[in-house]
Amino acid sequence: MSGNTMKSFIEATKNQTAVRCHGVTKTYGQGKAAVQALRGVDLEIRTGELLMLVGPSGCGKTTLISVLAGLLQRDGGDCSVLDHDYKQMSFNETTRFRGRNIGFVFQTFDLIPALTAAENVATPLLINGVKWPAALEKAGAVLKVVGFDDRMIHSLPTDLSGGQQQRVAVARAMVHDPRMIVCDEPTSALDSESGHMVMSLMRQFALGKDRVLVVVTHDTRIFEFADRIARMEDGRITRIENPPSRGNVPLNNP
Ligand SMILES: Nc1ncnc2c1ncn2[C@@H]1O[C@H](COP(=O)(O)OP(=O)(O)OP(=O)(O)O)[C@@H](O)[C@H]1O
Ligand SMILES: [Mg+2]
Repeated sequence: MSGNTMKSFIEATKNQTAVRCHGVTKTYGQGKAAVQALRGVDLEIRTGELLMLVGPSGCGKTTLISVLAGLLQRDGGDCSVLDHDYKQMSFNETTRFRGRNIGFVFQTFDLIPALTAAENVATPLLINGVKWPAALEKAGAVLKVVGFDDRMIHSLPTDLSGGQQQRVAVARAMVHDPRMIVCDEPTSALDSESGHMVMSLMRQFALGKDRVLVVVTHDTRIFEFADRIARMEDGRITRIENPPSRGNVPLNNP
């Protein structure tokens, strides 16, 4: 695509609907042990938007973003993500789509213990067919952006602090430039300064592109980075709010 064509493509796709959910339900288990985690979620998220998802423990946040990321199949309702419906796709199609288009920061980081930080970050690139040396080089560069030095890049997760592991998880979610990044508490192990750094990075990622970010958080310090805040209670979205103050954060959805 030429520079001009790319520019008009970005303009045309900006602020379109990236996620559309209506009446989405999900129940874990069966019979007496059944837990209804999602009880009819209605939600729209536009491209170019950073949506934060907040709510009490157990209200269904992780379940919802797992459904959006195609990691978990919904039971009922409609859900379209980047114009795709996982229910209409085969397992292999979903895996391929996810590998290209989705970055996920897990609540527990989920780094592979036997791989170094750089190797962990390189995995989404390998899945997309990038050769090992190039993937490692790109992974190292992204880790430097999140504040890693040469020694840390080659460390195993067990030799890193919780905050450092979290930054590896964030770098891994962004390295393949996915169209949607979904993050479960991405700043929970970070001090205020690192939390701001990580959120600025993720916001820059969303700005001016046909990208979308969904961030689950309890961390009120990062609310200013949101375009909108969705409140969740008991398996439903109950309210959508504007962030209290956006400070000096650049806005793409004023
Ligand atoms: N694999 C599972 N099997 C059975 N029940 C589950 C499973 N995962 C989640 N649940 C239940 O589903 C409900 C929603 O869980 P979920 O993890 O989505 O909540 P959450 O809002 O992310 O909570 P937290 O803030 O503590 O991370 C909870 O009652 C939880 O116990
Ligand atoms: Mg959770």
